[in-house]
Amino acid sequence: MAPGSGVVDLDAFGSALADTGCAVVPRFLDERATADLRDRARTLDAAGEFTDARIGRGASRVRREDVRGDRIRWLADGPTDPAERELRASLDVVRAAANRSLQLGAFDVELHYAIYPPGAGYGRHVDTFRDDDARVLSCVVYLNESWRESDGGELRIWRDDGTMLDVTPLGGTLVAFLAGRVPHEVRPASRARTSVTGWFRKRPWR
Ligand code: OGA
Ligand code: MN
Repeated sequence: MAPGSGVVDLDAFGSALADTGCAVVPRFLDERATADLRDRARTLDAAGEFTDARIGRGASRVRREDVRGDRIRWLADGPTDPAERELRASLDVVRAAANRSLQLGAFDVELHYAIYPPGAGYGRHVDTFRDDDARVLSCVVYLNESWRESDGGELRIWRDDGTMLDVTPLGGTLVAFLAGRVPHEVRPASRARTSVTGWFRKRPWR
């Protein structure tokens, strides 16, 4: 992987996805890009722009803090913020690579900031809705500053081969996994845990 450039070793990325259903890219973002997005999340949070996350959709959408304890703020599709534009450009490279290696047909991405307060997590789940399979690939980019393993907050992934993978949410790390197939959970942390989380989507008629 080319560290910090937002450019990844696309062959390694694609084969990890194809082989195990998930791929982890350390230093996907460099420290500056990570800090800019972290500052942006903090500014939006301080302005009261985040809302408590819910689970399900439509009429069955509910707040369940015991299941999911984060608050979120969606990113605009055509952002004017330079750090968000750069992130979208970097993720577009990932989208193209995933399409090539897995024929996912992903054509766009929906993204939100997420902040988990200390002690909050997200129980085991998959990322597709029962009535909508548009989400093909999930991605998470962590924005945490000087995170230590003892802070917790791992993303726990159950891979296709039955093995479990715990990913430490180090700032700049990207994780991608097949949205409908890979169960995962967010373990509680002792500090607030910040990320951008998103889903590459295929066209609804495909
Ligand atoms: C999610 C999710 C993982 C993470 O938001 O659906 O699983 O590590 N996030 O934040
Ligand atoms: Mn998820």
